[in-house]
Amino acid sequence: MTDTVRHIEPAADVLAAFDWELARSWLATPPGDRLNIAFEAVDRHADGPRADTVAMRFLSAAGPPIERTYRQLRDDTDRFAAALGGVGLPRGARVATLLGRVPQLYVAALGALKYGAVYCPLFAAFGPEPVRDRLTLGEVAVLVTTAEAYARKVAPFRDQMPALTTVLVVDAPAPAGTVSWDAALAGAPRRPAGVAPTAPGDAALLHFTSGTTGRPKGALHVHEAVVAHHATAALALDLRPGDVYWCTADPGWVTGTSYGIVGPLTRGVTVVVDAGDFEARRWYEILAEQRVRVWYTAPTAIRMLMRAGDDLPKEYDLSALRHVASVGEPLNAEAVRWGERAIGLPIHDTWWQTETGAIMVANLPGVPIRPGSMGRPMPAVEAAVLERDENGVRLVDGHIRVVTDPEAVGELALRPGWPSMFREYIGDPARYAACFVDGWYLSGDLARRDADGYLWFVGRGDDVIKSAGHLVGPFEVESVLMEHPAVVEAGVIGTPDPLAGEVVKAFVTLRTGYQPDERLRRELIAFGRRRLGALAPRQIAFDQNLPHTRSGKVMRRLLKARELGMPEGDLSTVEAAP
Ligand code: WT7
Repeated sequence: MTDTVRHIEPAADVLAAFDWELARSWLATPPGDRLNIAFEAVDRHADGPRADTVAMRFLSAAGPPIERTYRQLRDDTDRFAAALGGVGLPRGARVATLLGRVPQLYVAALGALKYGAVYCPLFAAFGPEPVRDRLTLGEVAVLVTTAEAYARKVAPFRDQMPALTTVLVVDAPAPAGTVSWDAALAGAPRRPAGVAPTAPGDAALLHFTSGTTGRPKGALHVHEAVVAHHATAALALDLRPGDVYWCTADPGWVTGTSYGIVGPLTRGVTVVVDAGDFEARRWYEILAEQRVRVWYTAPTAIRMLMRAGDDLPKEYDLSALRHVASVGEPLNAEAVRWGERAIGLPIHDTWWQTETGAIMVANLPGVPIRPGSMGRPMPAVEAAVLERDENGVRLVDGHIRVVTDPEAVGELALRPGWPSMFREYIGDPARYAACFVDGWYLSGDLARRDADGYLWFVGRGDDVIKSAGHLVGPFEVESVLMEHPAVVEAGVIGTPDPLAGEVVKAFVTLRTGYQPDERLRRELIAFGRRRLGALAPRQIAFDQNLPHTRSGKVMRRLLKARELGMPEGDLSTVEAAP
C-alpha cells in the first residue's frame, strides 16, 4: 500500500518552487474536472496505510475519549451522506450544524461535502436572532442541532424558513418537526458508498461573517479550496503525517473548519477535539497527555494562559510540541516571547480571513520571527499595502497606489487567484464586487509593510468588532437592541479589553418615559444575551445625544474616539460622510 500523503517540509527549496499547481499535485485526486474536500480529507486515507490511524480524538468531561479512525470516519460520513440522500436532498443544497464540538458535527460536515451538499457551520453560542438570520439568508435545507437549541433558537422562527426541510437532532427525544440523528442514519438507504463527482469550482463551504452595515455576509467557498487548506497546513502549520494536532478554534467559525477539520485531515494527522471551554490547567493537561505536536490557537487564549502564570506550564511535560501558531487577532510581541519563555517555543502569528479561506500571511516555521509582525505573505500569495484615505483605497486615474514607505499605513490587499478565495457573498453580488478594485482583493484591514516585507497589523478599516477572536457586526447588535421597547436607537462599538482584545459596548438612546437606571441596564444586558447569545453587548451606556452623520446614521467612529479618549477628528468631514 502506498502512502498518498506527501512528505512536505517548509524548507527553502520547497517554498521557492511553490505555486498553486504544485500544491494541486500534492492532493490524491489527479488534476482534472473532479475534486472533493471530503475525499481528500477522509476517503483517500481509508484504504491505505493510514486506515487504522486515529483521525479524530474527542475529549470531553462527560466520559472517556471517543476515537474514530480514518476508516471509521469514512464509514460514518458515508452513512450521513446516505441519510441526506434518504431525505431527498438535492446536490448543492445547504446543510448547517448548530452544535458544540461533538463527533456528529464533524461527521455532518464531511458527510455533507461528500454528498455534494454545501456545509455551513453555525456557532453554537449564537442566540436565536443570529441563528434565524443565517438560516434564512443561507436558505439552509438541513440543520443538525440539539433538541434544546432547536426548541429555543429555531422552532419559534421555523415558519420563516421555507427552505428548511429537515432538522436532525443528535440527542433524544426528537421534538415535533425534527428527526433523530440515530434514526435517520440507521434508516438511511444502503446505497453504494462513494463521493459525489464534484468539480473543483462547485460550492462546498458557506461561512457567515460580519460587516459594518447590513446583515451577515455569507462567504461561499468551493471544493478547490482544499488545495490551499492542504498546502498551508503543511507549510504554515508544519503538519506531517502521524502528528497529533490540536486546533482550539471552534468549528462554528472558519478557522475551526479550514484548520480544525479539512487541512489537518488532508495531512493524515490525528486531530484532537476538546468539547470543553478554556481552562488553563486542563489545556496544559491536554497538550501534555495527548502529546500534541502542533498547536494552533488564538491570542485571547494565549493572554489567558499568560495570566495563569509562567510557572503553571512547568508542571506539564510539553516536550512533544514542535510548532505553535496563532490567528484571529493581533498577537503582540510579548506573547511571542512568553511562548519562548513559558512553553519553550515562540508563537507563530498567521493572518487570514473568512473570505481568504486559508492562511495568507504567516511567520513560517524555521523563518526568523519579528515579534509583533504577522509575518510575510505565503509563497504564491501576492500581498501589498495600498494607499488609503478616509474614503477607502486611493485611486489615481482609476488605479490603486501601493504604499512604498515602510512606516506608512495603508490597506492590506491580495492579488486574487488563490484556490480558497471566496467566490460570492450569497445574494449580494454588489458587495462582493466592492471587495475588488483594480485587480486587488481589499481585506479591510490596515497594515504596514516593512522594508523586508514583514506585515504589521495596525487595525481594521471598518467598524467591525473583534472580541475574543470572533467578528461581531455592530449593525446586527444594534438591530436587536432596538427591538427592546425602551430603546429608540443604539450605536455599538468595541471597547478595549485586556483579555478579549475588545468587548462589545452599546450606547443606547431611551424612549421617553424610561429611566436610565441600573435596573434597565441589567434588563438590556439580559435581553441582549437572550436574543444574541455570544454576540451580546457586555456593556451598556445610556446616551440621549448619540452623534449622527448628516444622513442620520449613528457615528460609531466618534463614539469610539470618545471612548478611547482620542481626538474626535475633523467633524465637518465626518458629519458629511455618507
Ligand atoms: C479578521 C478576519 C482567519 C481566521 C480568523 C478569523 C483579524 C486575523 C489576524 C492577525 C491581527 C488578525 C483581521 C481580519 N485578524 N488574523 N494575525 N493579527 N488581526 O477570520 O473572523 O474573518 O476575521 O481578523 O481583522 O480581517 P475572520
